[in-house]
Amino acid sequence: MAGKKQDDGMRITSSTAISEDVPLDYNLRPRSLAEFIGQGKVKENLKIAIAAAEARGDPLDHTLLYGPAGLGKTTLAFIIAAEMGVNIKVTSGPAVERPGDLAAILTSLREGDILFIDEIHRLGHTVEEKLYPAMEDFVFDIFLGKGAGARSLRLSLPHFTLIGATTRFALLSPPLRDRFGAIYHLDFYDQTAIETILRRSAAIMKVPVEGNSLFEIAKRARGTPRVANRLIKRIRDYAQVMATGVITESTALEALSKLEVDSIGLDSADHKLVQAIIVRFDGGPVGLDTIAASINEDADTITSVYEPYLLQLGFLERTPRGRVVTKLAYEHLGLRYEKHYQADLGLWNQK
Ligand SMILES: Nc1ncnc2c1ncn2[C@@H]1O[C@H](COP(=O)(O)OP(=O)(O)OP(=O)(O)O)[C@@H](O)[C@H]1O
Ligand SMILES: [Mg+2]
Repeated sequence: MAGKKQDDGMRITSSTAISEDVPLDYNLRPRSLAEFIGQGKVKENLKIAIAAAEARGDPLDHTLLYGPAGLGKTTLAFIIAAEMGVNIKVTSGPAVERPGDLAAILTSLREGDILFIDEIHRLGHTVEEKLYPAMEDFVFDIFLGKGAGARSLRLSLPHFTLIGATTRFALLSPPLRDRFGAIYHLDFYDQTAIETILRRSAAIMKVPVEGNSLFEIAKRARGTPRVANRLIKRIRDYAQVMATGVITESTALEALSKLEVDSIGLDSADHKLVQAIIVRFDGGPVGLDTIAASINEDADTITSVYEPYLLQLGFLERTPRGRVVTKLAYEHLGLRYEKHYQADLGLWNQK
């Protein structure tokens, strides 16, 4: 099903949550802005917004968090609630099926509460339209009956804060976007931030680390805290069973190679995707659906799981005519780059 959270073939490098993350996510999740590593600009702006709302005695403006999976959107929503000292109710776009579901949630909120809607781009149209007056005027209109006897009933709602999260900003309708007072974009973390996150996680898991091991793990974590945490947990297991329990650089590298994660965090599924475009489509351009069919993968999984990191690495480009594998990717795979793609000039097969 399109957009459905999958276990993603249990890929160790997947940025989407898989079942083994659940207990880990809970323990390693930062609880306050001070504990939240990286995303400096977002944190700074949030701090100001929270302080201003508190000073006015108002709820926080409706806030939208967007960015690739596993970067901390859910974590931030909980942190905002903790910092504001309010309750948070959690739901998701696909879970709110009918306007009645939304009415039930909204009327259960208390003044100042936060409603967190994950995957907000997946809200149905009729539900979304009911959300507009709720966000703007804190009212919910219910229509009873039809024809001459029809009546409408206006419920007034507590002043709440909506926090929406999405990995697919482009799929959000403009009227919904416009109703958020603040929009924050989370981007991939840099190497240093990931190393800091790994150090913090190792300390929480009480696992000793030595040498450059965290640096090596960070290089392979795809700029994503969720992947970083999953890798260090697997490496800890490996160190406990196969070595002395200490994560040394060589134990870490051994474990990573067993997990088939390459030097920059790509796994066999990423290799398969890039190779398919190179071998079958001469490096592209090729349309998303054609790629999806050729590697037998869901198009939505390709856009939300594979592509963000490949685009970030500069291994893949999106052009109006389809996806193109870049020279960097050929080089990383140890392949000769025989095609020089210059769409604008229409030049092909040049060195
Ligand atoms: N800045 C951070 N510092 C430390 N750990 C973090 C940070 N951001 C995220 N994490 C860790 O990464 C895990 C994944 O984060 P989270 O679930 O908030 O991501 P998400 O953006 O909501 O992902 P999805 O799009 O899949 O819902 C968390 O459990 C937390 O342990
Ligand atoms: Mg989330």
